[in-house]
Order: sequence, then structure tokens, then C-alpha cells
Amino acid sequence: MRVRVLGSSAGGGFPQWNCNCPNCDAYRKGSITLRARTQSSIAVSADQDNWVLFNASPDILEQIKSFPDLQPARALRDTAIKAVFLIDAQIDHTTGLYMLREHRQPLELWCHTLVRDDLMSGNPLLKVLEHYCGVNWHDVPLGGTGFSMADVPGLRFEALPLISNAPPYSPHRDRPQAGDNVGVTLIDIASGKRLFYAPGLGQMEPPVWAAMQAADCVLVDGTLWTNDEMITLGASAKTSRDMGHMPQSGPDGMIEWLDKLPASTRKVLIHINNTNPILDELSPQRDVLREHGIEVSFDGMEIEL
Ligand code: MLT
Ligand code: MN
Ligand code: ZN
Repeated sequence: MRVRVLGSSAGGGFPQWNCNCPNCDAYRKGSITLRARTQSSIAVSADQDNWVLFNASPDILEQIKSFPDLQPARALRDTAIKAVFLIDAQIDHTTGLYMLREHRQPLELWCHTLVRDDLMSGNPLLKVLEHYCGVNWHDVPLGGTGFSMADVPGLRFEALPLISNAPPYSPHRDRPQAGDNVGVTLIDIASGKRLFYAPGLGQMEPPVWAAMQAADCVLVDGTLWTNDEMITLGASAKTSRDMGHMPQSGPDGMIEWLDKLPASTRKVLIHINNTNPILDELSPQRDVLREHGIEVSFDGMEIEL
């Protein structure tokens, strides 16, 4: 399978429009050790023709422009995006659906029923879309033998519930329910290779850990370096874990967990917040990741499995 990172940043992107944290400020002042990033999304294909989009970011039009494979130009109106999978209902993962409203048929949309509920009520995006292309909704089964998508051949998917957080507008914000955030294993049927994808991961529970151990590559939550990063900066009163993101450093942090995976597992961070010091390629924190064999994804990165 071919995995294209369309957007490697967390909500807000990098630089964030209203932010003057050390990273955003340094980028605007011309630092060449930080690169701009759009918001969280990947596209995946087994046959190079038919792609599934994981999350529809507010930056989707820019992301499609920078990846012409998604525009094969076979007809007056055309796309290689055959399905969209939403791992949660957060703004940074869903707003791009509005930008796909010119689609000629209803969008093939995969998300858990709790995500659909949030997108029909607190943020009624799917109701608004009914006035444009509409969606053909598919529920995401959790656990079991997984599922496939008729229009995206060669791939199989296994989803499992994660503890992260529902969006602020959701009735279950801060009370995670099984399904409002999911992690997904993507399996290339021909090669058997497995990618585990979880851009929002708040706690390492046994089923998540098992899925990570079974994967050839993990593409996981790289939001914040420390648990109190946003508090220390004065940017928010919430910890990383409050927001549903395990920090990288410290006890029970992402680095500690990734260290326990086999050396052969490729370890890549995604959904990186603009405040995270790892965005600076010359930072000591980035050196720590290098020492642990952990990569930082970037817009346009490709992973072949
Ligand atoms: C998150 O990942 O915690 C959210 O997407 C933050 C946001 O964009 O509002
Ligand atoms: Mn997010
Ligand atoms: Zn910033």
C-alpha cells in the first residue's frame, strides 16, 4: 500500500494563524529549520488508482493541489478519492467535507455511529451536505474481522475504539465513549503488511497496544511533547492528556511505548501541534526522537508498505 501524508499538523496547522509561540514566530521570521504543515489527513491506496482519505481537513483543497494523483482527470469532473473515513468528529478532521461538496455522487463516508451523531447535531455538517452531494454513510464496525470498501480494492481495515476525546460541541466531551475516537489498522491484502493509524491517542489500552505490536508501521499521535506544554506556554488551561493526546516525553509517554516495539517496526509521529518543539529539526527534542528511531511525518511524506 502507498500512504501519502497530506497533512501532518494538529488542529490550527503550522504556523497557526493567530499564534506567536516560539515555533510559529521563528517560522514567520524565516527560520529554515521548521517547515509549514497543513492539518491532519492521510490518503491511502493499494492500486495507485483508488484512494481512501482518512480525515477531511480544512486544508483539503491545498492538499489535493499538492498531490495530483488525487486528480486523474478521466472526465470533466473526476477524483481518485473513492471513500472518506473519519476517525473522529473533530473540526480538523471533518471540515474538509464541505470542500468536497461538488462531488457528482454522494460521498462514500465511513465513520462510527457516534461520530455521525455529532455531525448530525452539535456540528450538523452532514445535514448541510445533504443540500449538496450528500453522503452514503457506512457504519464502522469495531473489532471483529474488520471490513473492506467496495471502491478501494486491495485493502482491509480493522477499527478499534480509543480513549481520546470527543469535540467540545459533543454531548460526550470529556466522557469518552467507545467509538467517538477510533484507531485503524490498514492491511494490504496482497502483502499482508499492516499500518496502524491513530492521530489522537489519549491512553495506551491493551487492544491498542496489541494492534501496534502487530503493525509493520505505526503512524501515531505526535501532538505535544510534554503534558503541560500548553499550560506552560499560557496557550490553554488543559493538559495534553485532558485533550486526549498522550505526550511524547515522560512516564507512560509515547516514546516510552514506542521503545517497547520491535526494532523492525517503523515508528512515525503525526498530528503535531504547532507548539511542539520537535517541529524544529535542530531542537534537542528532535535529537531525542532520532536516538529512539522515531520519525516525524511531514506534508508530502510517503510510506510504502
Ligand atoms: C484535537 O485533536 O484535540 C482537536 O482537533 C483540537 C482542535 O482542532 O480543536
Ligand atoms: Mn486534532
Ligand atoms: Zn504556535
